Amino acid sequence: MDTKVAFIDKSVIDNIAIKEAAEVIKKGGLVAFPTETVYGLGANALDAAAVEKIFLAKGRPQDNPLIIHVADKDISPYVKKVPTLAKELMDAFWPGPLTIILEKSSLVPDKTSANLDTVGIRMPSSPIALKLIAESGLPIAAPSANISGRPSPTDMERCVEDLKGRVDYILGGEISAVGVESTIIDCSVEPPCILRPGAVTLEMLQEIRKDIYIDPSLLEKPNENLKPKAPGMKYKHYAPKAKVIIIEGDLEKTIEKINEMVLNYIEQKLMVGILATEESKDKYPKGEVMVLGTRAKPETAAHNLFETLRACDDKGLDIVLSEAFPREGIGTAIMNRLTKAAGYHIIKV
Ligand code: TXA
Ligand code: MG
Repeated sequence: MDTKVAFIDKSVIDNIAIKEAAEVIKKGGLVAFPTETVYGLGANALDAAAVEKIFLAKGRPQDNPLIIHVADKDISPYVKKVPTLAKELMDAFWPGPLTIILEKSSLVPDKTSANLDTVGIRMPSSPIALKLIAESGLPIAAPSANISGRPSPTDMERCVEDLKGRVDYILGGEISAVGVESTIIDCSVEPPCILRPGAVTLEMLQEIRKDIYIDPSLLEKPNENLKPKAPGMKYKHYAPKAKVIIIEGDLEKTIEKINEMVLNYIEQKLMVGILATEESKDKYPKGEVMVLGTRAKPETAAHNLFETLRACDDKGLDIVLSEAFPREGIGTAIMNRLTKAAGYHIIKV
């Protein structure tokens, strides 16, 4: 398949490329496009045949439902009812990185929701995404625009890497500001439950309602009795080809442990990368040091996380040793993605 790639200036709202891409959506094709979280791979959410193409292009398991992206807060056509809490969440966090799960209406094909009775909906804040959705006049179903299992793309080049030849159109124009996927909150259950942590944090959500809680399976290694509630969260994910190991604990001890492990791996003739922070980067004399961000502003680490994991592959690393982040605020989202990239391999110091 021929893929058209267009990089546009996000300040130019009336862009010909957006119109072309919207036509592709209307005709049942696939368009990769930027959002403020990560790039999405979009199709008409109401067209089961178009949605099926997303699953094929990504190699996505059929039991993994898609999020519907809208350009305004009138979600009533897609859900059975809009509870007060959902309205409050939309007012507080939309447009932005929050996906709300509600009981779906019959308008939403079972293909989109992977046969669940519920559907996740989000209004992104990216101007290109909003314009594309509005221009197509349709809700757009969009998972992250990566081949299943790889780190989500946060710029156009990474979409091209994964999807060229597999989709009709790739629209670029911005680097995703947040860098990790949206927070998902399930409002179809009582009390409401966070199914995936993101930039809208537990702490922020609890200001709206105190009893909102995080799916316990996200905080430790899932097992037979502790399965993630979001189908997609059970898959190994976000992983570069290198083996990732997280070292968690006091920062000085972490640095000491990483340096010891680096020497060991170098002796075995392995290429070792270190995911460090501004605060620690000068303390690693050996190994390929990559800076995720600054501990003073953990959102910088979220922003760079997936791009850095992909860069590990570009460098041909065999082993990647990562510092951990405090599991609070956006740190919960960083640790959730890192832990999955590491296949739950964590060394506590
Ligand atoms: O930030 C984001 O949400 C990005 C951008 C493109 O908007 N999209 C994204 O989609 O991350 P995806 O498909 O990569 O992740 C969607 C996650 C999956 O883990 C899926 O299982 C879960 O949301 N999900 C979707 N609908 C659901 C539902 N009705 N019930 C439970 N989990 C659901
Ligand atoms: Mg994804």
